[in-house]
Amino acid sequence: MERLDHDGLVAQQAVSLRTPRRKASLSARALFWTMDALYGEERTLEKFRVLELVARVPYQAWENVAYVAVTHTARQTGFARRVFDRVRTARFEQDNEQWHLLILEELTADQARPWLRTRIIPQVLAFAYYQLSWFMFAARPAWSYRLNADFEDHAEHEYALLVQENPAWEHERYEGQFTADFGAFDSLADLFRQIGYDERLHKEESELLIERPRFA
Ligand SMILES: [Fe+2]
Ligand SMILES: [Fe+2]
Repeated sequence: MERLDHDGLVAQQAVSLRTPRRKASLSARALFWTMDALYGEERTLEKFRVLELVARVPYQAWENVAYVAVTHTARQTGFARRVFDRVRTARFEQDNEQWHLLILEELTADQARPWLRTRIIPQVLAFAYYQLSWFMFAARPAWSYRLNADFEDHAEHEYALLVQENPAWEHERYEGQFTADFGAFDSLADLFRQIGYDERLHKEESELLIERPRFA
């Protein structure tokens, strides 16, 4: 994904803050509501950790469905090739979300972890969201792309606000174990700005695919 310097990150955070949110679908609003009910309305790192755990699964579902589609269409090599491009894109975005998750896990490692609320329920949420994404994608891909665009739009705005709410992070360095994988940043604020910007790019990719949802 595109990596920005400090000035670029500050500029893109401002863009996120002034861009109105998407009008979220019913299923997306149900998911946001559930997250707020379970983890509170306050923006905490723990809540973002759960968000990242859930964020990866639509890409896993798309990769899975597209791979099955390659099995059925391999004889039409040109078409199968285009389907395989979707597999690759989904995998690439999934990997990016994977680093977000691991960084959030690392940053919340010293917090208390009630077993049910922080381990079991997030996995149930991720499982349910995977099933929903899988069925939507198999039935009508545009539905699944729209749900994901709503989710990524939500994440983008929430990260922009998180950074705004934590001015002390401007002077705190991120020196975790994932700098080689995800990039080195001057501050924790810039790290989260970059993650928020990644969410924008994920959203834009999904918005593009709403317009051409079939493997064509
Ligand atoms: Fe993410
Ligand atoms: Fe994302």
